[in-house]
Amino acid sequence: MSEEQFIFHPDSEPIKDGKVTWRSPSNIALVKYWGKKANQIPANPSLSFTLNACATRTSLSYTQRKHYADDFSFDLYFEGSQKEDFKPKINTFFKRIAPYVPFIKDVHLTIETSNSFPHSSGIASSASGMSALALCLMDIERQMDTTMTLDFFHRKASFLARLGSGSACRSIEGDLVHWGSHEDTVGSSDLYGIKYPYTVHEVFKNYHDTILLVDKGQKQVSSTVGHDLMHAHPFAQNRFDQAHENLTKLKTILVEGNLPEFVKIVESEALTLHAMMMTSLPYFILMKPNTLAIINKIWAFRESSNTNVCFTLDAGANVHVLYPQNEHKVVYQFIKDELVVYCENGQYLCDRIGFGAKKINS
Ligand code: PMV
Repeated sequence: MSEEQFIFHPDSEPIKDGKVTWRSPSNIALVKYWGKKANQIPANPSLSFTLNACATRTSLSYTQRKHYADDFSFDLYFEGSQKEDFKPKINTFFKRIAPYVPFIKDVHLTIETSNSFPHSSGIASSASGMSALALCLMDIERQMDTTMTLDFFHRKASFLARLGSGSACRSIEGDLVHWGSHEDTVGSSDLYGIKYPYTVHEVFKNYHDTILLVDKGQKQVSSTVGHDLMHAHPFAQNRFDQAHENLTKLKTILVEGNLPEFVKIVESEALTLHAMMMTSLPYFILMKPNTLAIINKIWAFRESSNTNVCFTLDAGANVHVLYPQNEHKVVYQFIKDELVVYCENGQYLCDRIGFGAKKINS
């Protein structure tokens, strides 16, 4: 599918006033996206677990504008209060997506949004936030184009979300989502995420992700800057090739439920992501001493308990502890006994693999 196919149908019904609400989850990458080309095209393909508890709920009210103007008219409320400082990001998003959803210039939009996870927890809300907004917009488009298929709805929602924040395109459908052209993944595209098209072993159903909040502060280096630094990075090409290879290896691992091999790829991906940060120019480190302390504890516990607990990292210091349902009891006890002490104010979030975004009927 090409970008042109996402251009809005000119013969659609006129827009009416209304309100739609969606709840969209966050996601955690197993194979990481790091580095991008123009127009939010990823430099390498990625694969993620969709989360369940960490989500954004967004309502979008729309009323016809009295006078047409070539700009966007919107108000933005975050957790009940007007948020002027979020508006430039949304304005940039609207500019990027306007060729595909031109009706957004015909209406005044009121965006009311809130997260299920605490603000300033160091958990990025861009994936859940941008996907929730993209889904609201697609819901409006679907009301004007009643012939739209569900497949197209999902694909275009992912396509629009990608233009807001790359990883947001992996937050539409669960439970595993692949984004980016990959020779061994049928139907994969750089333009949108797809539900993982292969069989996945039972052991990956109900997988747990306990998110340890090591540092709740603002990151020193944004993802945008980090992605950009991959342009002149001495190891970039090898890294991009490695992501392709890891996805090919995972295909068999996911079918077989081979947890020891799963652990190796997932942890290597997390550490490679941070190694790219440490070897770019300028270089930077987002891990904190407690991130490393947790990693070492996990390695020691895995060895002594014979479990398959492992970690992954986002572009930050927090640690995602991943483990299967049948190890939940023993691993969760270990987390409480030995890892929570490294969290800021002892805070952590219990999440697990989820099944994608949901429309909320008001
Ligand atoms: O979606 P962005 O531009 O915030 O980039 C996210 C990048 C990582 O979270 C570090 C990796 C990933 O694939 O989600």
